[in-house]
Order: sequence, then structure tokens, then C-alpha cells
Amino acid sequence: MRLENRIALITGAGRGIGRAIAERYAREGALVAVADLDLAGAEDTVAAIRAAGGTAMALAMDVTDEQAVEDGVTAIVENWGRLDIALANAGVQHIDPIHKLAYKDWCKVLDVHLNGAFLVTRAALTRMYKTGGGCMLFMGSVHSMTASPLKSPYVTAKHGLLGLCRAVAKEGAEYGVSSNIICPGFVRTPLVEKQIPEQAKELGISEEEVIRDVMLKHTVDGKFTTLEDVAELAVHLAAFPSAALTGQSVVVSHGWHMQ
Ligand SMILES: NC(=O)c1ccc[n+]([C@@H]2O[C@H](COP(=O)([O-])OP(=O)(O)OC[C@H]3O[C@@H](n4cnc5c(N)ncnc54)[C@H](O)[C@@H]3O)[C@@H](O)[C@H]2O)c1
Repeated sequence: MRLENRIALITGAGRGIGRAIAERYAREGALVAVADLDLAGAEDTVAAIRAAGGTAMALAMDVTDEQAVEDGVTAIVENWGRLDIALANAGVQHIDPIHKLAYKDWCKVLDVHLNGAFLVTRAALTRMYKTGGGCMLFMGSVHSMTASPLKSPYVTAKHGLLGLCRAVAKEGAEYGVSSNIICPGFVRTPLVEKQIPEQAKELGISEEEVIRDVMLKHTVDGKFTTLEDVAELAVHLAAFPSAALTGQSVVVSHGWHMQ
């Protein structure tokens, strides 16, 4: 097991990518705090982890709520003594061209991805600095590196996370904290399933064309990235034994984006 007895927090782990990483971390021996806006989703992930013999706790946490984030991290430290790994994963998407985008929708996406990641980072670092270090992880995207139409707040937020990740790497080093960002291509989660009909409507093409000609067009093999692909990378980054790997963005996208 590659994460034995490590204490991990994953936000947005009630479903999708966060859930897959939470289950994988638990199989690798970590104790996992499963945080989500949707407490029922978080509890469901925890039940699956426990059924498989792992250890987990559910936290009701809106990552844009400063107090909820502080309370959640406090609960982890009270129960398990410290925090070793924090993954700011919670995210939302919004599909609209810029000229039709409502300010409230722009703000919502930036709030969850960027302000939420800041609050999780600050709460985690204050604990990690006291216990000799840890591992900060962020969920970026290929959209941290490049843009697509109709997703301007998401693209902006994901680019912004690169900056936060690198700033944490610089500041955290003297306290033993590494910081890296995972940048997946399209993974078939509810977040992506919702976009397929939305983009088909906006672009005036079929759902099959959205998948083939928009989402997977630039991959090397026309395949979606899988939950397992992303979870494997998340384990690798959390288990990496030194600060040789810090401030890095790692793209997992079937060659959609090469850097
Ligand atoms: N699915 C993809 O193709 C893909 C690709 C690249 C990056 N990502 C990123 O991966 C992360 C997870 O995406 P996903 O596809 O699993 O999405 P998802 O919609 O399946 O899951 C997102 C989870 O985040 C939770 N959440 C939303 N707002 C929250 C908030 N304010 N506080 C706490 N939790 C909140 C939701 O309740 C949900 O459980 C996101 O950051 C997303 O941008 C996804």
C-alpha cells in the first residue's frame, strides 16, 4: 500500500473524480475525509469505502464557505490527529458564450474553483506547517493549459489554479509541503454528461459529434480519460517521496494536450 496511515482530505468527493480518488486512496491505506456540498453523496462514498474495509469520514462542506472549510479541517485533526494530503477537487461547469454569460454564473464558477481552493489550501497549510509537512494537490484540467469555446469562467479558473499551485510550492517548501496539480482531459462524470447535450444545442450538432469532434478530437486514440487513470496519478503524486516533484502540472488526457 502506497499511502498507509496517511490522512487525506478530498473535496467534491461525493461523486465523480473525487469519489474515485477517495476510494483508491482508501485502498492504498489512507484515512480519507470525504467532503462535499452534498452530504448524502459524501456518506455514500464513505459507505463504499467502509464496505471495502477502509477508513473514512463524511464532511458536509461547501468549499466557498470559510467557516465550513475551517470546521471540516478541524474535525479531521480532532479525529485523526493531523492532515497529510489535501486535494482541492470540488468543481462546477457552466456552458455559455462570453457575450451571453451572466455575471452571477461567471462568479459562481470562479468562487467554487478558485476561492474554494484558496480556503481549503489555507486551512490545510496551517495544520501541515505544524506537523512537519504534507502534500497539497489541486484538480486542474487540460483547460488549465488551453481554452475551448463556451467555457470561459472554467478555463479562467483552471488557469488560475496553476498559479495557486505554484505559489504553494514556493511558500510550502520550507515547511515540507509539496504542491502539484492534476490536469485531466474529458472523464465521463456527471459534470461531463451534462455538457454533452448542452454543447450539442449551443453548437447545433449531434451529441455523437460533440463527443467525437469536440471532446475527443485531439486525443491520440479517441478515448475518454478514465476515473482509474486520474486516481492512479493522484496516488503517484501523493506518494512521491521528495520535493523533487513540486509546483508541477501533470496532464492525463490521452495526448489531447502535450506540454
Ligand atoms: N470530468 C472531467 O472531464 C474533468 C476533466 C478535468 C477536470 N475535471 C475537474 O475534476 C473535478 C471533479 O469533477 P467531476 O467531473 O468529478 O464533477 P462532478 O460534477 O461529477 O463532481 C463534482 C463534485 O463536487 C461537488 N461540489 C460542487 N460544488 C461544491 C462546493 N461548493 N463545495 C463542495 N463540493 C462541491 C459536487 O457536489 C460533486 O459531488 C472538478 O474540479 C472538475 O473541474 C473534470
